[in-house]
Amino acid sequence: MSRKICFAASEVAPLAKTGGLADVAGALGRYLHERGHDVRLFMPYYSTIDLRGQVPTAVAEAQQVQVQLGRQQVEFSLHATTLPGSDVPVYLVHCPQLYARDSLYTNAADEHLRFFLFQLAILESCQRLRFAPDVMHCNDWHTGLLPQLLLTRYAWDSLFARTRTLLTIHNIGYQGVFPAATVTELGLDATPGLLDAGELSRGNINWLRQGLLLADAVSTVSPAYAQEICTPQGGYGLDDTLRARAAPAIGILNGVDYDEWNPENDRLLSRHYSADQPEGKRLLKADLQARFGLQGEDTVPLAGIVSRLTVQKGFDLLFDTLPGILDSRPLQLAILGTGEPRYVSFFADLAKRYPGRVAFHTGYHEELAHLIEAGSDMFIMPSLYEPCGLNQMYSLKYGTVPIVRKTGGLADSVQMWDPQSGQGTGVVFNDFDAPAMRWALGTALDLYADRETWRRIMRNGMTRDFSWKIQGREYERLYDQMAAGGS
Ligand code: ADP
Ligand code: GLC
Repeated sequence: MSRKICFAASEVAPLAKTGGLADVAGALGRYLHERGHDVRLFMPYYSTIDLRGQVPTAVAEAQQVQVQLGRQQVEFSLHATTLPGSDVPVYLVHCPQLYARDSLYTNAADEHLRFFLFQLAILESCQRLRFAPDVMHCNDWHTGLLPQLLLTRYAWDSLFARTRTLLTIHNIGYQGVFPAATVTELGLDATPGLLDAGELSRGNINWLRQGLLLADAVSTVSPAYAQEICTPQGGYGLDDTLRARAAPAIGILNGVDYDEWNPENDRLLSRHYSADQPEGKRLLKADLQARFGLQGEDTVPLAGIVSRLTVQKGFDLLFDTLPGILDSRPLQLAILGTGEPRYVSFFADLAKRYPGRVAFHTGYHEELAHLIEAGSDMFIMPSLYEPCGLNQMYSLKYGTVPIVRKTGGLADSVQMWDPQSGQGTGVVFNDFDAPAMRWALGTALDLYADRETWRRIMRNGMTRDFSWKIQGREYERLYDQMAAGGS
């Protein structure tokens, strides 16, 4: 059945992206639209947005809308565009005072105002467009207060009478925690019973927790992560709230947008290849080596990394393991990432210490991300935790064997190679410690040396299908369940 879905996300690819949330918002939005749903994406109109040459149009019904934002009146205007190359509607909340910044997220004192305005603007815009969503699909903390706003400030409006709220957790490590003073500032204390008392007693409001308390349904981006976040180790303080919900969080593995990530037709690659015609991969490896200044035979195994460099991604495990492996075995590394200085300097130092064998490009670079996926033999993702992770699924498609820790979506999407059955798509290790990491890298290099086996592992991965055609159905089923009154 066709549904009206308001999809609220702080980033949507390719318009604005820092990580996987953007990929998911863009691709799931596209999938739902193709399936005939009236899905409308909302995101802030960042000054850094990449509109790919499209010029958004002002939405006549929602221009110069005044809203009370704490002590100030703030004005926003709604602009409409589409996901590039499609007619999937995207609404951009224009408010230069809040969104004309160097980055999507900031540490500025008004960060709470930036995303509070975003949420108010979504609801104000639905009203002005007379758009009555069946599902308000919220994503992460930036949209975590929408369920509460619908139960309070907007409860009077019968437009939303049938609207059910879904909150998808993409990363429970980021929660939107602000001082309790902002509760009064934003007028969130009108219905104090809805606020989490524990947070208030600690002097905070936690937007993600508020969402988990009040959303009709909660989902997250892999079945394994759905379990992990209910434990004290994985819940980052929110496990109690999740366990207290009547229905558990539902785990739906992210899909992959194979229009963007497919070695057979990748627009950012100069050559193409497939499981049956793998020749292009060898040439792309040579391109990657040349581009990154990696020297030596193309038979030397090349491992890639493309990542935000944060503690979540588990690179601490490489500190004590990579140098030893580089000293004792042939291996090259191509690394692309931005983030915390400790990781940036680790990789930069490694590149200095092993010139021609380790290359590090710091920055965000779409094309290099695709080249690393295509040109590498293996891909390293030792995450401490990983709600879903997309790069391991891209790697599978590109015949780039993933080396992953058994956590969250990595556990759900990569199977350890089993020589007995000939099944398996990568190297999977369990413990978050140096011996396990060392074992995984060593095992991958041993397997690589056995060409026949390696080709089999590559092929196993390349034939796996994580497309949205499969994963998107799960969201449709969830929407149906919610509309029927369950969650
Ligand atoms: P997360 O959302 O936690 O960062 P995911 O694996 O879900 O992890 O998604 C990361 C996405 O961001 C992938 O599409 C990946 O290719 C991309 N990405 C991460 N870092 C960079 C970078 N430095 N340059 C280009 N793309 C990047
Ligand atoms: C988050 C997670 C990542 C996930 C992405 C999209 O950024 O860290 O694992 O794939 O969201 O859901």
